Amino acid sequence: MLENNIPLYNKEDFKGMRNAGSLAARILDELKEIIKPGISTLEINDFCKGIADNNNAICAPFNYGEIPGERVPFPKHICTSKNEIVCHGIPSEKDILVNGDIINIDVTVILKGWHGDSSRMFQVGEIDKKKYKLLKTTYECLLIGIRNAIPGKTLGDIGYKIQNYAKNKNFSVVKEFCGHGIGKKFHTPPSVLHYGNKGQGVKLKPGMIFTIEPMINVGDWKTIILSDGWTAVTKDKSLSAQFEHTIGITENGNEIFTLSENNSDFPIKEI
Ligand code: MF3
Ligand code: CO
Ligand code: CO
Repeated sequence: MLENNIPLYNKEDFKGMRNAGSLAARILDELKEIIKPGISTLEINDFCKGIADNNNAICAPFNYGEIPGERVPFPKHICTSKNEIVCHGIPSEKDILVNGDIINIDVTVILKGWHGDSSRMFQVGEIDKKKYKLLKTTYECLLIGIRNAIPGKTLGDIGYKIQNYAKNKNFSVVKEFCGHGIGKKFHTPPSVLHYGNKGQGVKLKPGMIFTIEPMINVGDWKTIILSDGWTAVTKDKSLSAQFEHTIGITENGNEIFTLSENNSDFPIKEI
């Protein structure tokens, strides 16, 4: 079924999404122990791919998203976006994490045809108060978005609440990338902007499935893409952070498909 060109999913579909989402979460749960100074982002990539393989799942980013003449297919299995990288960082053997780095790991698995898409920030060793505030605020932006993703509210309500919260903390919201519908395909309508106006945009209905994945910058919201065609960095080189869940709208609210099974949704030490 379609509503405003947005697919509506049934109970069985929700089951498929629950299983895929739970695998993405379990992969992210395992990373807390291995993300330390000295590890390369390629090692993190291979570790995630190994778990996906063991569970008969595919990492959706690999070979995804070619735009002929403009962008090569994504060459690795997860996205690793460190410090001033906003999203779509490419894992590399040369990219070695050092104490004080902050890094987003974005995992999307395909399990029995269904996509589970989630990302979390990780701290490398010890981080300062300024970085902690960015990570905490970004995670809170995601939670506020999810809290407002309920029947009767609109996509604009989600974006408005996120933007308002970030602004009050003196951070900016990235505008060039957004959340998205997801299911048997990686990216479908709707686009879920992380800024917007109260009451505007599509009304949320039970059966809709999409991601919320705010990217929050310390400085200006503008981004540029590096010559690899993928890596998006802040234009002013300020720090950026992101958290992502895949959710489904239910009769009474929503279900988060990618929740951590051991409370590691925010795997950051409190300061
Ligand atoms: N997982 C990303 C998202 O949240 C998309 C990555 S596309 C890739 O939508 F090709 F870069 F992997
Ligand atoms: Co996504
Ligand atoms: Co993602």
